[in-house]
Amino acid sequence: MKIQTIATQPFNDQKPGTSGLRKKVKIFQQPHYLENFVQSIFHIASPIAGQLLVVGGDGRYYNKQAIQIILKMAAAQGVAKILVGQNGLLSTPAVSALIRKQKAAGGLILSASHNPGGPDEDFGIKFNIQNGGPAPTSFTEAVYKYSNNISSYKILETADIDLNTLGPSKMGDMQIEVVDPVSNYAALMAHLFDFNRIKSMFDSGFSMRFDAMHAITGPYAVEILENVLGAAPGTVINAVPLEDFGGGHPDPNLKHAHELVKLLSGNSAHSFGAASDGDGDRNMILGQNFFVTPSDSLAIMAANAHLLPGYKNGLSGVARSMPTSTAVDKVAEKLGIECYETPTGWKFFGNLLDDNKITLCGEESFGSGSDHVREKDGLWAVLFWLNLLAIKKQSVSRIVTEHWARFGRNYYCRHDYEAIDSQVANDLMQYLLQSLSELQGQTFNNYTIEMCDDFSYTDPVDNSISDHQGIRLLFSDGSRIVYRLSGTGTEGATLRVYIEKFEPEVSLQSGETQQVLADLIEIANNIAQIHTRTGRTDPDVIT
Ligand code: G1P
Ligand code: ZN
Repeated sequence: MKIQTIATQPFNDQKPGTSGLRKKVKIFQQPHYLENFVQSIFHIASPIAGQLLVVGGDGRYYNKQAIQIILKMAAAQGVAKILVGQNGLLSTPAVSALIRKQKAAGGLILSASHNPGGPDEDFGIKFNIQNGGPAPTSFTEAVYKYSNNISSYKILETADIDLNTLGPSKMGDMQIEVVDPVSNYAALMAHLFDFNRIKSMFDSGFSMRFDAMHAITGPYAVEILENVLGAAPGTVINAVPLEDFGGGHPDPNLKHAHELVKLLSGNSAHSFGAASDGDGDRNMILGQNFFVTPSDSLAIMAANAHLLPGYKNGLSGVARSMPTSTAVDKVAEKLGIECYETPTGWKFFGNLLDDNKITLCGEESFGSGSDHVREKDGLWAVLFWLNLLAIKKQSVSRIVTEHWARFGRNYYCRHDYEAIDSQVANDLMQYLLQSLSELQGQTFNNYTIEMCDDFSYTDPVDNSISDHQGIRLLFSDGSRIVYRLSGTGTEGATLRVYIEKFEPEVSLQSGETQQVLADLIEIANNIAQIHTRTGRTDPDVIT
């Protein structure tokens, strides 16, 4: 066994986006491509010699091969020990939990989240730091910079290890432990929620469906929901993780989780439906014929958290990403706690959680989480809702409509225009930027723009500044329109337009979202000249 130093050249395209480096599998399979990036991470994370790391992924195509390469490279760096999920599997929140529990120096997560998997689809890699959360921008920028000048990497010349068998093994001097991906995570959930109460609810006939979308949460959900909490066998659908997610798009929204949506519609036998994404950090919550918007879900969690064991002392504060609806702000106001507005992406919540400024946080993009880990957590959100249902003994729709009656309702939707030409997308954003001063104070169809800007965030903990985080138009009645370009896509650009309108007085029978937002949607399209610039008449996805 010998440590080899391999000469290489920079690819110059390894700039991490919102959640790490994401590219087509074929790009990652180029000789030296993954190696260059991993070496760059190790260099910036150094000293990692003598340290403990965690490695795992969502099981997508190329996961196992990438893990073997990473193990050999870590051994060449002198890493003391690596915990790796059995079969290379670990959900993103489970990696975060494991880093924290074992006091590891960090971890590598192999995933492209909700993007499709397979030889012609997407792969991704990101580094999480000691607190269990995604590395900050300063780190990822430094990695990118290093990758642009890299000339060699180190790798141990050795055979692959067996990822299927639990227990210890070695690569050179480095210890490896293949761990059960579920057990540590399941124990953490049992500590946060009232499992006995949820179990009694299932024992008395409560029926639900959880769609694992052939991605990472299958084994977690089967163990926790069916084996521990006693939900009926078959509660978890699409439970087996597959390298190509069964050809599906493992994104828990109304479009991609259509099988689940169907199971909860009409005269459904189930009271609750939920789904998670490729790597297990997103969640979608459904009642019978009822969709809970992620922004509302966050607000409802914040309003009720004190009822659950893990949050019985109340919340220190809450946070949401800027495009997320302001529903949670209303709850924070009533509770007398701070509500922080951060840029898109989970990494901005890390400092606030570490500094105990917040307990709960979330994004409109089907992500919510708490201080139990430093990632958003899909199954955690599902268990939160189950615990709430077990306490309130009300339907999902009843809980939501009562919340609206108490706090008002934030009608909300997001329009995505996918795979548009990058130049067109950048020009559109540039045009909006240049229009800002002109837009200020203008009235469109009774909606007056009170404030508009290019969102910039100053981290209240380390004072770091993140600029250009989206263009927001705030109207005098509290309505908002936000435009930003996705940082996670791998084909062209994705324009996201977020539209929101607040109605303080809501009758329990509320109007259709698209109808309520129709005027604002038209205003949003006109201001950004979406049709003429992109040639698109309709968004690809509406959530
Ligand atoms: C998207 C979501 C964002 C989320 C990220 C990672 O990023 O919008 O909220 O944090 O995925 O799951 P985007 O593609 O918009 O940059
Ligand atoms: Zn994800």
